[in-house]
Amino acid sequence: MKQKAVLAFSGGLDTSVVIKYLQEKHRMDVITVTIDVGEGSDQKKIATKAKNLGVLRHYNIDAKQEFVSDFIHPSIKANALYQKKYCLATSLARPLIAQKVLEIAKKEKVDALAHGCTGKGNDQVRFDVTFGSGSNLPIIAPIRDLNLDRTTELEFANKHGIPIDSVSKKFSIDQNLWGRAIEGGNLEDPYTEPPDDAFIWVKTKNLPDKAKYLEIEFEQGIPVAVDKKRLSQIKLIEYVNQVAGSCGVGIVDHIEDRVVGIKSREVYETPAALCLIEAHSDLEKMVHTKHQNKFKSLVDQEWTWLAYSGLWQDPLKRDLDKFIDQSQKVVTGTVKLKLYKGSFRVVGRKSKYSLYSHDIATYGKGSAFDQRKATGFVELWGLQTTEANKLSNKR
Ligand code: ARG
Repeated sequence: MKQKAVLAFSGGLDTSVVIKYLQEKHRMDVITVTIDVGEGSDQKKIATKAKNLGVLRHYNIDAKQEFVSDFIHPSIKANALYQKKYCLATSLARPLIAQKVLEIAKKEKVDALAHGCTGKGNDQVRFDVTFGSGSNLPIIAPIRDLNLDRTTELEFANKHGIPIDSVSKKFSIDQNLWGRAIEGGNLEDPYTEPPDDAFIWVKTKNLPDKAKYLEIEFEQGIPVAVDKKRLSQIKLIEYVNQVAGSCGVGIVDHIEDRVVGIKSREVYETPAALCLIEAHSDLEKMVHTKHQNKFKSLVDQEWTWLAYSGLWQDPLKRDLDKFIDQSQKVVTGTVKLKLYKGSFRVVGRKSKYSLYSHDIATYGKGSAFDQRKATGFVELWGLQTTEANKLSNKR
């Protein structure tokens, strides 16, 4: 009997090539799993493609709801933007996809786990660590193992009659509900501006002349309503993506430090993520003390790094999750965003847990804060600083 491998199959170039390699070089039967995390691709088409490539069985798992509640929401609570820019769309989806592959692996009693990651990226870390945390099965990663490049893969696909769409020929795309990552091709020159046709979520031309507003309501750190409409968790993200994208908001273009040490030029479309994280972190500033704000930003950064670098399963992340969840008890309120021709900003916020006091803050008449009390505080606050400078002036 032939050995069996289970493969996370996206229908793209890498994973299509992997099916053939597993069948031909490893003489294995392949079971494919496609996990729908909101990439908007036609799941039936992917299933047909898998079948045409001769897989033993194909599974399709709709994991959109789990992706939002267990991955996207924690990342909003952590204001997760890696290197201040990247909302972790791909990073968050990988551990979930790998977990689902493991479930099928157990059900099908396979002999190996396979993925289509290269040895140059972060995804291999996310897959391998999730696989290793949940099983002892060997991992086969043909693209990495055989040191394949995209040109060789395209040739291989051509030779084996693997159909590849035109976008995949131009760029390497990874897309889900939280964001769209565009890599490769001309974008590998960090000085070359991404062409307009690289973008499908964010409008780049003929942007509306009138500003749009988004009023986002949070409950305990989670967005629950937009523009006074309570939407399902998935719909809410789609709605914000659509509105912000239509105003030209959501493109990120930056140089990213990968776990393996390679610097890469990354282009993303992440309208909803940018808006929701900006709104969330603004609300936090209103309801948390300055001590909480200062400390939580350190926790957020560490959380983001763990999620980015493939250590989703690390006990430290679980510990940080507890801290973050506790901090979100008061992150309830509404934030108003203004979007106009590619830019956006918070223009209003309110919360029943607000620590902002107009009576204390006002420069107007009758403030509850007696400013004369500040003199002594400032003297003590700057004591060592002023003393140190007086001393060094004497030297
Ligand atoms: N650099 C990002 C990450 O590691 C995105 C990778 C996207 N992958 C792709 N094939 N375009 O999470």
